[in-house]
Amino acid sequence: MAYASIAVSELSEDQAKAELARLASEIAHHDALYHAKDAPEISDADYDALKRRNDAIEAQFPQLLRTDSPSQRVGAAPAGIFSQVTHARPMLSLDNTFSDEDVSDFVASVYRFLGVIPDNSIAFTAEPKIDGLSMSIRYENRKLVTAATRGDGTTGENVTANILTIKEIPTELPSDAPDVVEVRGEVYMAKSDFLALNAEMEAQGKQTYVNPRNTAAGSLRQLDPKVTASRKLKFFAYAWGEMADMPADSQWGMVEVFKRWGFPVNPLTRRLTSVEDIISHYREIGLQRADLDYDIDGVVYKVDRLDLQARLGFRSRSPRWATAHKFPAEQAFTKVEAIDIQVGRTGALTPVARLEPITVGGVVVTNATLHNADYIEGIGNGGERIRPEGHDIRIGDTVIVQRAGDVIPQVLDVVLEKRPEGAVKYEFPKACPVCGSHAVREKNEKTGKLDSVTRCTGGFVCSAQAKEHIKHFVSRNAFDIEGLGTKQVDFFFESTDELMNIRTAPDIFTLKQRQERSLAKLENIDGFGRVSVRKLFDAIDARREIALNRFIFALGIRHVGETTAKLLARSYGSYNAFATAMQEAAPKFGEAWNELNSIDGIGEVVAASIVEFFNEPRNMDVVSRLLQEVTPLDAEALAASNSPVAGKTVVFTGSLERFTRDEAKARAESLGAKVAGSVSKKTDYLVAGPGAGSKLDKAREVGVTVMTEDEWLALIEG
Ligand code: IVH
Repeated sequence: MAYASIAVSELSEDQAKAELARLASEIAHHDALYHAKDAPEISDADYDALKRRNDAIEAQFPQLLRTDSPSQRVGAAPAGIFSQVTHARPMLSLDNTFSDEDVSDFVASVYRFLGVIPDNSIAFTAEPKIDGLSMSIRYENRKLVTAATRGDGTTGENVTANILTIKEIPTELPSDAPDVVEVRGEVYMAKSDFLALNAEMEAQGKQTYVNPRNTAAGSLRQLDPKVTASRKLKFFAYAWGEMADMPADSQWGMVEVFKRWGFPVNPLTRRLTSVEDIISHYREIGLQRADLDYDIDGVVYKVDRLDLQARLGFRSRSPRWATAHKFPAEQAFTKVEAIDIQVGRTGALTPVARLEPITVGGVVVTNATLHNADYIEGIGNGGERIRPEGHDIRIGDTVIVQRAGDVIPQVLDVVLEKRPEGAVKYEFPKACPVCGSHAVREKNEKTGKLDSVTRCTGGFVCSAQAKEHIKHFVSRNAFDIEGLGTKQVDFFFESTDELMNIRTAPDIFTLKQRQERSLAKLENIDGFGRVSVRKLFDAIDARREIALNRFIFALGIRHVGETTAKLLARSYGSYNAFATAMQEAAPKFGEAWNELNSIDGIGEVVAASIVEFFNEPRNMDVVSRLLQEVTPLDAEALAASNSPVAGKTVVFTGSLERFTRDEAKARAESLGAKVAGSVSKKTDYLVAGPGAGSKLDKAREVGVTVMTEDEWLALIEG
């Protein structure tokens, strides 16, 4: 509580860090009370204030963002929201082995326990250890009834609705399957799907996910199964829980049965008898590891015969009949040949280490991100020394590289003994390497601390920012112009021919016209051709009318991702209403400013960034040229106009009993209603559950229609 009374703008970085920790645990505590026990301790308004304070501190100190931050839990379930499932048979874990010697010890221990002379008579299955989440799927009378996470091994969470969205998992079993079946296995996200998702997040200016495993876990903990469905999760079956009848007498046989029932099973599974064969299969899988489209972290060996498994039994947490032979962490030594600076759409200067190409776990690594100036210096987000000794990174240094989560290469440490003589400290540029404008680390006015990101101040003058903006503008969730990929944008941007180039977004829409006047035709240029040029012009023309939310997102306003753009479109309805309000909000007080801030999901930092964008003449110049070419469609027209709540503004307060708040919000929005976070004269309905406090008082005061959850349901269900 120490710093709870200090205004956000007054907090030092250390205080902010402590405050974020306090807020994370306090908000989690209230979430638990609210959702699991339905007994909130504080009013909605006080809860909202905690969340707002958390958001404001994060906006001020983005480098302090915690992985367990309440702001990162949007749409995900707070702990305890899924119902609990007690596993009919506990879900156990595996013992780990690390060396060839450990493996022969394991095999020897099996023979010893069973009192058999080691004569290669016992078969073992060897299969990849999938780096995902274990899941138990229960079928009763051949119908899928529940799916539960492992949890603590005894009790897991009921995620049935989400598992039903995984197409690879059958919802029905064939008629010869026993009456009760529990199939267990691993839910995972393919590396390719993970990379595609991250590319999309990046295009939207959103934070990317760390690795496929965490993303799969987060995807399963979504309240809205549609979100889970969009994440394309996959499954491998390899074990079982309760079975009314055993359809096979070996591990191998069981997996064959699962396959026949329609479950995906891992094709790299083998049945082997000698330690030599087991180890050579382990090596073989290790070699293939990088090429597999899913992450694995070892190979699991299991005694094949189920009667022997039964005799071997369990230790407290793991079976005696199985072990996981883990792969060593993938690391390698290489040299930093250069440090390059990339300039992003918002001007952030990101240093990248160019490495002497090196194979890490089968993948050739040539670059590693160095994040920011502090990271190179050996300083972490909280000002602490990073890497074991906190060494700085210099050009010419030999470094240890690791592929984190098998995807993004990182520089783990510097081998100081190998530092070449005369290697000098890397000096982070003070000017943008692309446009030469000053590059600054924004300073927090109040605390005097520097932001970790160095930014080019050139704005539209900086060609790197301008080019990145065009890439964002044409990306999938913005204007989505097919035929304008990275390569084409580079080409058009760099062209010096005024009848062929694209330097700002409006140029995209005048390209065809300019080409008609030009002798230098695009279709004669390598890589284009008549058909593709025509297709490109068609694709551009098809976007002359565009949904308002896409239009707003495409503008590339800092902090305005896809979700915020949707909120803005829904709240203001038309481009004109939106732009006018943003101009009116310029003084950052008054009605227009308050209205912007009252939108549920828009905090002060985001609001300020939008208002600043609309009050910068250079931005408005580009936007007005753009508006001569394209028409943003009113958002209202997109809403379900026959719904009784279309266009209405609704606020939910108190503890809802019929649905979670996220569900209530999603449902209202799908019917064309706007969901606001606070009550104002513009609010149409306040839906109040038990425990409603200040919002209810305010609604009564300003004469807003107040209804119960049941009345709201009656209204929307007509
Ligand atoms: S067998 C009683 N097989 O690893 C043993 N587990 O460290 C049941 N895992 O919780 C597990 N791939 O989530 C088994 N082919 C595989 C596996 C596998 C991944 C996971 C599973 C388990 C954890 C144990």
